[in-house]
Amino acid sequence: MAAWSPFKKIAASLFGVTGATAAFTVYNLEKRPLKAAELLLHPPAYEWAHNKVFGSFDAASLRRGYLVYKNVCKQCHSIKYLAFREMVGVFMTEEEAKAEAAEVDIVDGPDDTGEMFERPGKLSDKLPMPYRNDEEARFANNGALPPDLSYIVLARHGGEDYVFSLLTGYCDPPEGFDLKDGLHYNPYFAGGAIGMAQALFPGIYEYADGTPAPVSQLAKDVTEFLAWIAQPELNTRKEMAIKFLMVMTFLLPSVYYWKRFKWAPIKNLKIEFRPPKPPARDQTGTATLKFRKGIPKLRLTDQIYKTLQTE
Ligand code: HEC
Repeated sequence: MAAWSPFKKIAASLFGVTGATAAFTVYNLEKRPLKAAELLLHPPAYEWAHNKVFGSFDAASLRRGYLVYKNVCKQCHSIKYLAFREMVGVFMTEEEAKAEAAEVDIVDGPDDTGEMFERPGKLSDKLPMPYRNDEEARFANNGALPPDLSYIVLARHGGEDYVFSLLTGYCDPPEGFDLKDGLHYNPYFAGGAIGMAQALFPGIYEYADGTPAPVSQLAKDVTEFLAWIAQPELNTRKEMAIKFLMVMTFLLPSVYYWKRFKWAPIKNLKIEFRPPKPPARDQTGTATLKFRKGIPKLRLTDQIYKTLQTE
């Protein structure tokens, strides 16, 4: 075998060293202990009616979901961006929403004497917050802050599927899992230990409309409600899309036809070059080129004529 050039030798050594380092790193990465965060369970994909192409929010489910929020989650979680008036026409009549609003006390003011006062809620009021501030919320919940649920469905990876799985996923921790006091095991929550205790149990709430209320139904309804708050314009957006498609079905072909119609003469235009006939020659072989008046005639001798023709 021919001796390797110094360049080849260096290249081969570099290749060897890089390869060995890579192999060593991969080996060590593979044998490292499992981290708690990797025990995260990914939520399965559920078929939400509102996520289908032609699907919309289930109004009956929203109505039940609101009641679940009001009777269970509201104790700890705020929905501070939702006003009572937004529920009108979606899953409540105006009277019902007014009655809902009137149930809560809203701090308003200051009045003429400079004092704040409490009054019954109005349609334009936002849903009340369970705690005055984050500090009070943390204090009441073992240091964990219950997040505002207005946009939680959009704010969490997995959206509705995650929230539903989280609510229904409480179980005993696996063997050897070190669960601190005040935390609860939920495989869908990153790290497994969540500060929120299981909130939904069979039989904690009964629907007035007679729908059976196992945990999965309660969780589905409240999740549907949370999905609606996060994007209340979803139904309208889909309606607009359907209208847009309907208009476009007629508009696009006609615009296409119009374009073809207007462009046809231009696209089909043929430009042809017809070379002029060579000038006639007399017996001596001389051709006479006549130009416009005032320009002298040009006589082409046989010789020039031939050269011109061959070129
Ligand atoms: C007793 C108080 C309490 C109740 C009732 C409660 N939660 Fe919570 N929730 C919490 C606390 C505290 C946290 C923060 C947990 C943490 O960060 O470890 C939380 C967190 C959450 C989260 C966010 C999890 C994440 O990924 O960060 C969601 C979603 C949630 N709750 C939904 C609900 C819903 C829906 C209900 C009603 C069915 C509900 N909660 C009822 C206290 C409560």
